[in-house]
Amino acid sequence: MAVTLSARARQIGNSPTLKINAAARALKAAGKPVVHLGGGEPTYPAPQAAVDAIIQKANSRKIKYIPSSGTLELKQAVLAYTQQHYGHAFDPKNVLISAGAKQALFNFLLAAVEPGDEVVFAAPFWVSYPEMVKLVGGIPVIVKPTQGLRITAEEIKKAVGPKTKALIINSPCNPAGHILSEDFIRQIVEFAEEKQIFLVMDDIYHQLVFDGNKTPNPCVYAKDFNNLVIINGVSKLYGLTGLRIGWAVSQNEELIRSMGKMQAQSTSCNSDLSEAAAAAALTGPQDCVKDLCAVLQDNRDTLLAELAKIPHIRVEKPQATFYSFVDFSYYNADSNTLAAYLLDKALVAVVPGAAFGAEGYLRISFCADKTAIVEGVRRIAEALKNLPQ
Ligand SMILES: Cc1ncc(COP(=O)(O)O)c(C=O)c1O
Repeated sequence: MAVTLSARARQIGNSPTLKINAAARALKAAGKPVVHLGGGEPTYPAPQAAVDAIIQKANSRKIKYIPSSGTLELKQAVLAYTQQHYGHAFDPKNVLISAGAKQALFNFLLAAVEPGDEVVFAAPFWVSYPEMVKLVGGIPVIVKPTQGLRITAEEIKKAVGPKTKALIINSPCNPAGHILSEDFIRQIVEFAEEKQIFLVMDDIYHQLVFDGNKTPNPCVYAKDFNNLVIINGVSKLYGLTGLRIGWAVSQNEELIRSMGKMQAQSTSCNSDLSEAAAAAALTGPQDCVKDLCAVLQDNRDTLLAELAKIPHIRVEKPQATFYSFVDFSYYNADSNTLAAYLLDKALVAVVPGAAFGAEGYLRISFCADKTAIVEGVRRIAEALKNLPQ
């Protein structure tokens, strides 16, 4: 009899973004001049303060286990960051540091969701939400906006039922690049409190905003705070994706403690070097964030100018993040086929909208450099002209 894997292992799909990255990397390794517009990380160099902290720590020759829920130094840095950006004072007991925002979110799901519980979020969604919810035995409830890419508070409210355990809100949104309105956030915070369901704010892009936009702050509207969980991290903010440091902040101490137990029994703790670097990035000079936003805004404008040359596509101006989510359905309603065609024929990597729950779209990242953006869109335009009928 052959060895078998769990039903869970069979049920969970690969990350489509990581798949595209791997395919693009393989083509590059084979010497092909691939333009990568599928990525999810700024190419920006790491803040000097973070690099110095790693060197200092490494030179101490003490690279050890650290407290499972995070060092007090990093928790204090996260608390100061949260106080500054959310205007709310939390306590070290309210913070769990994890291996990226992704693990923070996963710890939340492990700690809060019973098999059969529903977790509600909007499409288009970050590719990992459905799989992570399924991994913990939950049921992803995906709410599609009836108009365009922007969900309304009414649409979310209608999807909530007796089995709903949590709402996940990701604003600014990967992949749509928009920021949900102040009124939306107010309504959702009030609604989640009234229904006593968890409200998880995946705020990983909250500072990567353009044109003077601001991300609405849920803490302004929260009253009881016990159901609110804020997820964030250093990956996008400082381009420190390789550190693998993110966090969850919640006034609900029992929740944070339980999430910590999940982490303690799975990874023991985060990397000592990474936590030191993340603390230094958070407490060091912050001009890099402003600089990054300026570069990204400029990249966005370049991308929009280039996309304007392609007929029959529909583009919304991204207000934040580094993604543009473009409707290419005129050319092919099957986004997987179109993305594969573009990688094959134009050597341009983009991510199919199907992965985000929105067929007909392609996600184009503008965190690459400007030359790559211009060349990538030029090649896409060319390949679309030669699309087999
Ligand atoms: C919406 C969203 N949430 C969370 C994450 C995870 O970030 P981290 O690198 O901190 O795990 C990502 C990364 O792409 C993301 O786009």
